[in-house]
Amino acid sequence: MNGDIACIGAGYIGGPTMAVIAKMNPGRRVLVVDINAERIAAWNSDNLPVYEPGLDEVVKACRGKNLFFSTDIAGAIKACDMIFVGVNTPTKTFGEGAGYASDLQYWEASARTIAQEANGDKIVVEKSTLPVRTADAMAEVLHTHPEHTFTVLSNPEFLAEGSAITDLLNPDRVLIGGPQTARGRAAVRALVEVYAAWVPRRRIVTTNVWSSELSKLAANAMLAQRISSVNALSALCEATGADIAEVARVMGMDRRIGDKFLRAGPGFGGSCFKKDVLNLVYLCRSYGLEAEADYWEGVIRMNEEQQRRIVARTVKALFNTLANKRIALFGFAFKANTGDTRETPALAVANLLDAERAQLVVTDPKALGNARRDLAHLPHVALEPDPYAAAADADAILVMTEWPCYRELDWGRVYASMRKPALIFDTRNLLDHEALRRIGFRVLAVGRP
Ligand code: UDX
Ligand code: ADP
Repeated sequence: MNGDIACIGAGYIGGPTMAVIAKMNPGRRVLVVDINAERIAAWNSDNLPVYEPGLDEVVKACRGKNLFFSTDIAGAIKACDMIFVGVNTPTKTFGEGAGYASDLQYWEASARTIAQEANGDKIVVEKSTLPVRTADAMAEVLHTHPEHTFTVLSNPEFLAEGSAITDLLNPDRVLIGGPQTARGRAAVRALVEVYAAWVPRRRIVTTNVWSSELSKLAANAMLAQRISSVNALSALCEATGADIAEVARVMGMDRRIGDKFLRAGPGFGGSCFKKDVLNLVYLCRSYGLEAEADYWEGVIRMNEEQQRRIVARTVKALFNTLANKRIALFGFAFKANTGDTRETPALAVANLLDAERAQLVVTDPKALGNARRDLAHLPHVALEPDPYAAAADADAILVMTEWPCYRELDWGRVYASMRKPALIFDTRNLLDHEALRRIGFRVLAVGRP
């Protein structure tokens, strides 16, 4: 074993994770490879393809020393005994399980390439989130080349976007699932060594492969469920005159509940929550667990309802018609500190507003590139980097992403440039609503009367 590490897939997970592994393991070479040459070129440039606070520094410190980005997939497989796979596993859009199951074609293609190019025994590490029992299927694909031994480990990534580097440097836990065989245990020990370079041993949890795969889906489903629960309560707050911030604070003071992840908002987005919950629904159904599947599916339905409700309240506040009214969406990323827009609630809201024939203008400090692609089906939507220009002549502003820079805006200036009565719908409860009302705004918020 030379200790060097390859990673197939240079995306949101593969790139930052390997950069941190390289930084904390200066004695190992880390080779990150991808079929997408443009993406690799970006990783080798000053303009990294993923925006994460702190990522630039880590990459700059290691790139060309022990961290390398290239398209030479075969070369990386040959050079390393341990190969991470971090390719995309989107929800299937076709065939059996469409809309629920994960599309494993990229994963399987990677496994076949590993089997074909391997020049010796390899440890293959699942980094992408995968349905339970994928490791088994992959082991079967790999063993079509019986001259070498492949040991498949599950090592799901729990990092959240926007805080990827701090999450990686200081993880709550690192989870490694491996086969309960002598070879499996040795492979697990080899992977533990990689993380033990900076993570305290007590935070490195080892389990069997299926517990590891399921734990990742379970953790994300619990977090998503929490957001849907607090959003369901936010609707009741609006109806009754309670305030969700107060209710959440009281709930959070119970140590059994805890105070994290109780922010009501426009619903969860991001590449993981919806996909993982749908995956869980599919798994339950395929084992005949209908009531359990319906339970988890309710988490998704509640999330969509939140976006529908935001638009319904906007329509009502603007005198039951949005036709030709200018509405500015402040923020398009699925949360602050990322340019990622996958499953962003802002897109669902944009589609619903467009159906009401509103004139949309979208502003965001990091996500307009992705927004252009996501909104290509709505060619009349304007994209505007300057929030002041986006707000000019607008009837309403919907704050969709909790970008801190929106707190610093000169809201008096914004108000003066808008059509009256000027409405702000703060779906993230980011702004000072009393101050806005003093300026003259009508203010709507999630979970507040
Ligand atoms: C999530 C998990 O947190 C991470 O462990 C996993 O590896 C990948 O999925 P991520 O999607 O990057 O990470 O972001 P996260 O911070 O979890 O937020 C997900 C969504 O929930 C965002 O749209 C966010 O705005 C929303 N959210 C989060 C709320 O609406 N309220 C909250 O209280 C917290
Ligand atoms: P994630 O959020 O899981 O990291 P991304 O979509 O950001 O997902 O990244 C996945 C990466 O995997 C993409 O850059 C894609 O080009 C790459 N990829 C997909 N299939 C293969 C493959 N067979 N070989 C190498 N790279 C692949």
